[in-house]
Amino acid sequence: ANTLPVEEAVLTAPPLVPPPITRDHAAKVVVKMETVEKVMEIADGVDYMFWTFGGSVPGQFLRVREGDEVEFHLSNHPDSKMPHNIDLHAVTGPGGGAAASFTAPGHTSVFNFKALNPGLYVYHCATAPVGMHVANGMYGLILVEPKEGLPPVDREYYVMQGDFYTQGAYGEQGLQPFDMDKAIKEQADYVVFNGAVGALNGDKALTANVGETVRLFVGNGGPNLVSSFHVIGEIFDKVYVEGGDLVNHNVQTTLVPAGGAATVEFKLDVPGNFILVDHSIFRAFNKGALGMMQVDGPEDKVVYSGKVADNVYLPEGSAVQSIPNGHPKVTAKNKEEQMLYGKRAYEANCQACHQGSGQGIPGAFPPLAASDYLNEDPIRAIDVVLHGLKGPIKVNGQAYDSIMPGMRLSDEDAANVLTYVLNSWDNQGGEITPAQVAKRRE
Ligand code: HEM
Ligand code: CU
Repeated sequence: ANTLPVEEAVLTAPPLVPPPITRDHAAKVVVKMETVEKVMEIADGVDYMFWTFGGSVPGQFLRVREGDEVEFHLSNHPDSKMPHNIDLHAVTGPGGGAAASFTAPGHTSVFNFKALNPGLYVYHCATAPVGMHVANGMYGLILVEPKEGLPPVDREYYVMQGDFYTQGAYGEQGLQPFDMDKAIKEQADYVVFNGAVGALNGDKALTANVGETVRLFVGNGGPNLVSSFHVIGEIFDKVYVEGGDLVNHNVQTTLVPAGGAATVEFKLDVPGNFILVDHSIFRAFNKGALGMMQVDGPEDKVVYSGKVADNVYLPEGSAVQSIPNGHPKVTAKNKEEQMLYGKRAYEANCQACHQGSGQGIPGAFPPLAASDYLNEDPIRAIDVVLHGLKGPIKVNGQAYDSIMPGMRLSDEDAANVLTYVLNSWDNQGGEITPAQVAKRRE
């Protein structure tokens, strides 16, 4: 018999935080979150296919109170290509909710948990390959306020770091696919706050006034790198170490582990631009881990007499550039053109899973390179592309028991992509025509 009052959670996109909880009793909190896969800019002119909780990186901020009973609804958008789930570090129970929340595209899962421990916690997707889901942006923060609440402050913000691994080097233009090799080697191309280079710069800077106390909820999604979080020109009056109860005072730089968090507070005594960085400093100036807080108000020449720098160093590549989006609808006139258009279609539709050289990811995505399954029956491969495939299957002696979603491609694109695949990476060759594809669609 659950007699708790029921309320729906307020969820916010970064850098905003839901308002403090004012109730003095537990509630049943209903959370409705949606996983969405979408292309967004990771830097000017550089697009990335992010996998998100709620459409932003990091995902929506969730705020509950110690003792609350949470009814969590996880919906996976019908356009998603992947199943997703959620592991909340605030959950006591196996997997943190992961198994209970495993959700195929177009479905909703519901599970319940009780927020036993106060603190600032990371949540993330834990669907295989886990590293890939996290690397694509599937993480966020949940704050469990202690029963007595947090001390009031003037402003609260949500900042979360993440490292990203792209086929192209930092700043290389266009849609950049995830690079599994670099991720395994922990060679990040981008290290950013709130999902993009410049997400907290210029007119998107955090704001505050002199005399105010600011609280930052700082998370680190990783997947790999530990953050040395620092605000240039400020000293944290308080750090809730690792997001827990332990409060440290007068801290210059605080560690935020991958899959961890910290709450920091500081009072602003002078105006100017205060720069948020990962003090592993090449990440700040060369990989994007640089944000900004614009503080307005009267100078205090006693606290700080010198000139307060007004300019941020913007990492290279910050000039806005427009890139041609998509490709013109043209018909391949010969096999050579089929290969060219097929390569583009492959990069846009298949590479995220089957990887750049068709090598796949062992245990998760079968290879298309020298694939006996593919070469045995190229017509069957048309069906796979059009309608998807559900295991179990065997490819080059390896068992796969997974799901590939059907690709929404035109007859032309499907024909081109398969022709490209059949003539790449030690496959047997051959040609698939749009007419053959049309036939399998019937
Ligand atoms: C299986 C092609 C996109 C995940 C396959 C197979 C082919 C194929 C031919 C059969 C096995 C093999 O030969 O290795 C393609 C093409 C794509 C594409 C041409 C783009 C147009 C994707 C995407 C994903 C994916 C985007 C991930 C979301 C899988 C999985 C299997 C598979 C998991 C194995 C399914 C099972 O276990 O039965 N794909 N694929 N594929 N693909 Fe794709
Ligand atoms: Cu996921």
